[in-house]
Amino acid sequence: MYEQKKPYVIEEEPGIKQYCGCNKTKKPPYCDGSHKGSPFKPFKVEIKEKKTVNICGCGKSQNLPFCDGSHLK
Ligand code: FES
Repeated sequence: MYEQKKPYVIEEEPGIKQYCGCNKTKKPPYCDGSHKGSPFKPFKVEIKEKKTVNICGCGKSQNLPFCDGSHLK
């Protein structure tokens, strides 16, 4: 999922979200269970109110799973 040069911009509803942390998911940016058997785990994030989130699509963010603008550098 980290092959983009831009973030995944998603309008999220409130709830617990699991964003992929292993880079193997087939449903980016969400975890689809592909990490099983690897040392990686999804990023679990509680979204408290409906909002737009920017999830890193390049893998360079220092604030994963969120975009920090690193794809622009
Ligand atoms: S599929 Fe990547 S962390 Fe679960």
